[in-house]
Amino acid sequence: MNSQSELDRINRVAWNSRDAERVLTADKIFSDAGEKAAFEWLAPRCAAAPLLDIGIGTGRTIAPMLAISNDYTGVDYTPKLLEMAKSRYPGCDLRHMDARDMSELPSDHYGLAAFSWNGIDCVDYDDRVKILEEMCRVVRPGGYVLFSSHNRGGPGYRENIWQLLPQFTFNPLRLGWRTLRSLRRFQLGTLNYVRNVKLNRDYGGYAVKTAAAHNFGIVIVYTTLGEQRRQLAQIGLQCDVVFGSSDGNPIADDVEDSDAWWFHFIAHKPLAAYRFDQENGHARPGTST
Ligand SMILES: C[S@@+](CC[C@H](N)C(=O)[O-])C[C@H]1O[C@@H](n2cnc3c(N)ncnc32)[C@H](O)[C@@H]1O
Repeated sequence: MNSQSELDRINRVAWNSRDAERVLTADKIFSDAGEKAAFEWLAPRCAAAPLLDIGIGTGRTIAPMLAISNDYTGVDYTPKLLEMAKSRYPGCDLRHMDARDMSELPSDHYGLAAFSWNGIDCVDYDDRVKILEEMCRVVRPGGYVLFSSHNRGGPGYRENIWQLLPQFTFNPLRLGWRTLRSLRRFQLGTLNYVRNVKLNRDYGGYAVKTAAAHNFGIVIVYTTLGEQRRQLAQIGLQCDVVFGSSDGNPIADDVEDSDAWWFHFIAHKPLAAYRFDQENGHARPGTST
């Protein structure tokens, strides 16, 4: 087994953990200020259009997506999380599907295909390209792709095992409580960290690293603004706007470095290239608008 399929195997274990269930059922609408800004940017542009929600987990994004359009389809490859989403939203079209192969879904159909809360970071680089190509295929010409991705230059990339230790306080009762609470996390986190750290690699434009989430139980891709913009252009998607997670402000096109924890990328499938390819008998996106 190579390190890339190993990454997928590790992350699938994490999605089935109690910790993932706890985090994904926390009562919040938006993951961060950047996601809120991204939804506000997209809402008037995608109103009433067919929407595809990828990697829905327990269904956090279903309500904000339905606020944009009732024509909604959600997919996830983790049966346990999908079942939880189904029981929360019994009337919704929710399907078991791997984002790397969405051949069950039509091409050139959706006004928006979204993969939220850094779900796309949980597959290796080649699979990330496959997912973005699939998202590009299923959106209609002019349709949007939205996804978030961890920042290779952000605070999350610098997280390490020591943060599992209890935060110091002069209050002995509070310190005792924090120490007790951290004991189990430290044990499990250390085991996961030691097992997963061997997969850490820095490729320059992006990196693969074990992340603190789920007690260092996941290994994810961290990207840079430059690399992600390049990858989108290579796939034939035109980047419209990038929002940083921390303050929800758009990041200017010429900015290369940011201290955001992660980014929300919005890109669209060009119209003209679609027409050109139609003439040639291929419904394939190109690079012009
Ligand atoms: C961080 S969770 C986010 C869940 C949800 N989108 C949210 O924001 O609450 C990532 C989700 O992506 C799903 N996922 C990861 N890789 C996937 C893939 N290749 N195909 C479909 N779902 C995937 C996982 O099962 C998990 O539910």
